[in-house]
Amino acid sequence: MSQNPSNKPVIAVVGAGPGIGEAVAHRFATEHFVVALLARTEDKLRDMAQTINTDVGAGTAHIYFTDLRIEDSVISAFKRIRSELGPVNVLVYNAGARRVNGKALIDTTSEEFENFTKINLFGAFWCSKLVIPDMLAAGKGTILFTSATGALRGMPGLSSFSPGKFGLRSLCQVITREYQAKGIHAVNIIIDGPVDGKLIGGVVKRQWERNGESEKVAEVDAYLVQPRELAHTYWFLHTQPRSTWTQELDVRAMKEGLFTKL
Ligand SMILES: NC(=O)c1ccc[n+]([C@@H]2O[C@H](COP(=O)([O-])OP(=O)(O)OC[C@H]3O[C@@H](n4cnc5c(N)ncnc54)[C@H](OP(=O)(O)O)[C@@H]3O)[C@@H](O)[C@H]2O)c1
Repeated sequence: MSQNPSNKPVIAVVGAGPGIGEAVAHRFATEHFVVALLARTEDKLRDMAQTINTDVGAGTAHIYFTDLRIEDSVISAFKRIRSELGPVNVLVYNAGARRVNGKALIDTTSEEFENFTKINLFGAFWCSKLVIPDMLAAGKGTILFTSATGALRGMPGLSSFSPGKFGLRSLCQVITREYQAKGIHAVNIIIDGPVDGKLIGGVVKRQWERNGESEKVAEVDAYLVQPRELAHTYWFLHTQPRSTWTQELDVRAMKEGLFTKL
């Protein structure tokens, strides 16, 4: 635990990008967690870690290059986290892969189906397997999966996305039934609508511009999930008293329809 000398609790944010991943990492960092950020892109990870370390304190955020499509890559990242920071107390599996513009099933390649499903589902299975033994030994732990409307409804164009998210939901229920009574709190968090991040949020905002809907920009939080606000929900779920644990929760912005969009 050479990089966590004060023995702070550890959160692993798997699929750490500038949207939900960074916001959740930042929120837990302000609650005295040390943060392991896992993703593939070096400069993005370095920027996020720097922001957290500047805002919260040096040595709070640590980065681990990982490709969630490759089990060995996941195993070696978690081995390093364990030896450098200590056992993981909170696992947030946030990675997801989908097309912005859907493609019909017969036009979807097997390679895309496999790659996306590895990110949406297999990575969560591998990460959970790696953290649960230490959580069992401690008698407690939190596992938070970032999910989407696609976990509840299969929609045209998203054959390479929805099956993985359906599976992730099921995995979360299995973890709950197997380990909840032993102290592990697992939650599937369904984000029911677009997030105000670079990719999907950017597409939506460009659409508003094209359609001359500038009033929506002024009221962006009524239309798009704000990562920093969502991060409070992750903290709330982690700190729920054990007599009132949530297993699944959905959130959407005020003007978003209920389970309508993917
Ligand atoms: N954005 C939305 O509108 C929206 C809506 C509903 C649900 N969600 C869910 O929210 C989650 C993502 O949150 P976000 O959109 O705000 O993204 P984010 O937290 O900004 O970034 C997620 C990060 O996951 C990483 N990732 C993807 N594939 C990976 C791989 N193979 N190995 C390692 N890391 C990988 C990417 O980093 P690298 O490319 O550097 O690896 C990406 O930056 C997903 O589960 C998604 O389904 C998003």
